[in-house]
Amino acid sequence: MYVVTNTIRVPEGHAAQVEAGFSSSAERMRQVPGCTGFLFLREDPSTDPCVYTALTQWEDEAAFAAWLASDQFRQAHSGGAGDRASGGDVKRYTVIAASE
Ligand code: HEM
Repeated sequence: MYVVTNTIRVPEGHAAQVEAGFSSSAERMRQVPGCTGFLFLREDPSTDPCVYTALTQWEDEAAFAAWLASDQFRQAHSGGAGDRASGGDVKRYTVIAASE
């Protein structure tokens, strides 16, 4: 199992728009080959800018690499995603133990 997180910073004025943008992501990520889990997390306590982490879980690194190269990834990150959010702090993990 492989996990990749991306942490972004969103000015409070854009938070509702970004949360709305991610509201249908769970459904989309469920269709992605090799993606076994997705969470979109807002860090507590809430600050300005709001700190969000997209957590993705994969069968293996190759499945993540394929999604990164896909049209779906490109489409999700076009349309001004970079204007509403900044940061893009990406971390990659090998899972050592999990409860499921
Ligand atoms: C500079 C780098 C990045 C920025 C600023 C960024 C920001 C965003 C934003 C604002 C959206 C929502 C788009 C919308 O409004 O519909 C989005 C979608 C998403 N991002 Fe990123 N992102 C970056 C890179 C990454 C990376 C490397 C990952 C890998 C974990 C990732 C994971 C996701 C996922 C899973 C979605 C939802 C995809 C979907 O709905 O199909 N992002 N990103």
